[in-house]
Amino acid sequence: MSTTILAIESSCDDTAAAILEDGYLLSSVIANQDVHKKYGGVVPELASRAHQQNIIPVVDVALKKANKKIEEIDAIAFTRGPGLLGSLLVGTSFSKAFALARKIPMIEIHHLQAHILVHFIKEDSKADYPKFPFLCLLVSGGHSQIVLVKDFLDMEIVGQTIDDAAGEAFDKSAKLLDLPYPGGPFIDKLSKEGNPLKYSFSKPRLNDLNYSFSGLKTSFLYFLRDKLKKDENFIEKNKADLAASLQKTIIDILMDKLILASDKYDIKQIALAGGVSANSGLRNALETEAAKRNWQAYIPAFSFTTDNAAMIAITAYYKYLNNDFSSQTIAPKARMEF
Ligand code: KG4
Ligand code: ZN
Repeated sequence: MSTTILAIESSCDDTAAAILEDGYLLSSVIANQDVHKKYGGVVPELASRAHQQNIIPVVDVALKKANKKIEEIDAIAFTRGPGLLGSLLVGTSFSKAFALARKIPMIEIHHLQAHILVHFIKEDSKADYPKFPFLCLLVSGGHSQIVLVKDFLDMEIVGQTIDDAAGEAFDKSAKLLDLPYPGGPFIDKLSKEGNPLKYSFSKPRLNDLNYSFSGLKTSFLYFLRDKLKKDENFIEKNKADLAASLQKTIIDILMDKLILASDKYDIKQIALAGGVSANSGLRNALETEAAKRNWQAYIPAFSFTTDNAAMIAITAYYKYLNNDFSSQTIAPKARMEF
């Protein structure tokens, strides 16, 4: 008998639903929220209101695309955390009501575990999946971590940022360059036309596997301020070189610790995950290191890098196999350990 899961993701500003059957993705739908663009960041109250408007249409489209009826869903999964509480509440409440009405089990999902397990979505054309144990560089707008993945649901954070996430470093620096929000993809695009060696910015000196990005943001700010004093058009004239140099610095910081982690744990299976793993420079850097160091690199498809519900569904599939279900008393959590 097959298992069909409906999954919901609503932790931040994307409302997403996906249908997965026995580990194979049947549909994945995402409604982005443009309402935040003019504020230069996500406004939590607006996000939860938009989730409320989007959730039913998004689920409806996901079911139609998968050619499934509500009666054919065996379990519903949702992101319990971490994320914005109001946003999480919409997905959690929807899932509770759905589970109650359909008398099916409910599965709570950890958003970051899901980013990592996206690598296990089954595809007939996929030759290879990561083998345990592997290391995953998980980089998003809210998190930057190196995770030791021992099994599907057994993960340990071995390094993480002590301040800003890599995605924040991209987005905040992009704001200084007058780029739209979120700026990561714009920096990526501009970098392709720029010289990454034109400018150099300070890198943190932390002894362990931890990251820090707040210093980079500050040094970028002071650098621009000094240059703008001498030439008010400095940013306009050098935008691509600034983007490329900044991107190179962020990637170097990320890769240095990943290499350290690989050496420390003697693991050559290395994966990327999270929104920042869409970055073309980071993807190339991982490929280059992999060739040099005999790593086996796993890079997610672009559609699986930023927030989506396919990753929630595949994580739910492994929890379903373990009979790991939640009760109706469950509440979302803004902060959540692995
Ligand atoms: O995983 P995600 O969708 O949401 C969180 O859970 O945070 O990640 C969003 C982050 C944003 O900071 C965005 O700027 C960044 O991922 N991002 C990128 C690229 N695409 C998305 N950063 C750099 N280069 C990209 N191509
Ligand atoms: Zn995410």
